[in-house]
Amino acid sequence: MRTSTSKAALFLLVAAAQCLALLAGAAVAAKPRTRQGDYLDRLRGSPSSWASLAAVSAEDRSAPSPSPSRSGGRHAAPATAPAAVGSKEADRVVGLPGQPSGVGFAQYAGYVTVDAEAGRALFYYLAEADGGSAASSKAPLLLWLNGGPGCSSLGYGAMEELGPFRVKSDGESLYRNPYSWNNVANVMFLESPIGVGFSYSNTTADYSRMGDNSTAEDAYKFLVNWMERFPEYKGRDFYLAGESYAGHYVPQLAHTILRHSAAAGKSSSSPINLKGIMIGNAVINDWTDTKGMYDFFWTHALISDEANDGITKHCNFTDGAAANQLCDDATSLADECLQDIDIYNIYAPNCQSPGLVSPPVTPSIESFDPCTDYYVEAYLNNPDVQKALHANITRLDHPWSACSGVLRRWVDSASTVLPIIKELLKNNIRVWVYSGDTDGRVPVTSSRYSVNQLSLTVADKWRPWFSNTQGAGDVGGYIVQYKGNLSLVTVRGAGHEVPSYQPQRALVLVQYFLEGKTLPDCEKCGEA
Ligand SMILES: *[C@@H]1O[C@H](CO)[C@@H](O)[C@H](O)[C@H]1NC(C)=O
Ligand SMILES: *[C@@H]1O[C@H](CO)[C@@H](O)[C@H](O)[C@H]1NC(C)=O
Ligand SMILES: *[C@@H]1O[C@H](CO)[C@@H](O)[C@H](O)[C@H]1NC(C)=O
Ligand SMILES: *[C@@H]1O[C@H](CO)[C@@H](O)[C@H](O)[C@H]1NC(C)=O
Ligand SMILES: *[C@@H]1O[C@H](CO)[C@@H](O)[C@H](O)[C@H]1NC(C)=O
Repeated sequence: MRTSTSKAALFLLVAAAQCLALLAGAAVAAKPRTRQGDYLDRLRGSPSSWASLAAVSAEDRSAPSPSPSRSGGRHAAPATAPAAVGSKEADRVVGLPGQPSGVGFAQYAGYVTVDAEAGRALFYYLAEADGGSAASSKAPLLLWLNGGPGCSSLGYGAMEELGPFRVKSDGESLYRNPYSWNNVANVMFLESPIGVGFSYSNTTADYSRMGDNSTAEDAYKFLVNWMERFPEYKGRDFYLAGESYAGHYVPQLAHTILRHSAAAGKSSSSPINLKGIMIGNAVINDWTDTKGMYDFFWTHALISDEANDGITKHCNFTDGAAANQLCDDATSLADECLQDIDIYNIYAPNCQSPGLVSPPVTPSIESFDPCTDYYVEAYLNNPDVQKALHANITRLDHPWSACSGVLRRWVDSASTVLPIIKELLKNNIRVWVYSGDTDGRVPVTSSRYSVNQLSLTVADKWRPWFSNTQGAGDVGGYIVQYKGNLSLVTVRGAGHEVPSYQPQRALVLVQYFLEGKTLPDCEKCGEA
């Protein structure tokens, strides 16, 4: 049970995100834009029903509830011959609409059935390592997951963060991301669980049954079945990475992989050769996550001394702590000051003109366009794009959206994943916890408090790392390494979605993580 305190705190954040969306959406249909942390808020506020929670939230804030878009009337039509189920060649993406020329890597996309009886299928998109088959056969496999729960790894991860393409403001054409993570790995994006993006279940009741456990189990089944389709990836060095609520998904999936391989016994080698995990601005441990969030707000001059004093004095964010009106008052006071900024990147501009712009404005990888969500939503709802991706072959009765409107409930959510992280470390799985240091939603203070709960011994003390070691160098952030293969890394000047805001630093980060090397130091930097 959560305290009303933390509920109030989380409501506030839902409101903040919606407020931004409403401001931005004033000219068009006011459509609340959901982001990765928002669904978490709803889930945490009410384990029983998101819908009713949304209603409460709306009452409290006089803001429209983020109503799940359930377009009535349409029914799942019988599929027209789904492209040969289980064939790699059938999954090959010949080219994405609007794709620039000169693409030197293969793309695959499609569905993998995880439960044939219920009719559950997960959608994936794979961008193989850049440089042709020679490069891709040598490179490791990295699976990326976004959070929510309920948000799409294709929409966020692939199209806005670390994938090879970004969508221009016309919602139709793509441009290359030179810092794509497929420079160093074969990168797969999974829409997980069912109900997210193009992933679905033919059993509607499944949308009310998902939670941390079933998400990990289905993702595991996905991997096993997917490797049957792509046998060349069996035994390949495998890594898991993700952000936000994937702070749950990633360690839980890693743990599921270890469990299954232990159950299978030592003799049979698992096709999934898990080496390490990396989680960014990750939900790890509820009470330290919440405490770290308010500390960040105050230390970044977003909330008043009065609000901060009240929170420090009266709030107990521990699971099961008693409700406290003085704490609620203090968090409400704090909330009032957060409504007009993007707490997912406190220094980012707001999106001023939601919707599409044609002809497209000249895009810039270095300066993230805050209206990107609108471009990606238009792109992925384009029937030609869906066809190219082999997506939506069963004609789903709802549009693609960045965060799910069809998931109804979330039945289990651990209050901490620290015990799982300990277990992974014991099994020699490399763990990197990174944090964009301008995110206010799951900020760097939260990550530090959470990692400190593990009481690990420092192996290599806190120091700057360099994303560029030329001349005076460029500090990419800070790193501290602990005994037992855990590193805590900050990324300077990045919000919640690190690769969106600091693509070059993020690429250095993932490259060194995959190579199992510590991030670059720069002994000579700054010398005259
Ligand atoms: C879901 O139902 C459609 C229509 O009957 C079918 O074509 C599709 O294969 C089913 N999906 C799964 C995963 O069984
Ligand atoms: C916070 O609440 C927990 C759970 O009820 C309790 O064990 C703990 O003592 C409380 N902490 C403080 C500082 O009151
Ligand atoms: C799937 O296709 C149907 C049209 O056949 C469309 O109405 C629906 O929005 C699409 N859904 C998704 C998730 O792409
Ligand atoms: C999730 O899995 C854990 C570990 O196997 C188990 O203890 C817990 O009861 C499960 N929760 C649900 C809701 O199934
Ligand atoms: C880190 O993991 C490697 C295997 O990847 C293992 O050999 C090594 O002992 C681990 N280091 C520590 C300090 O646990």
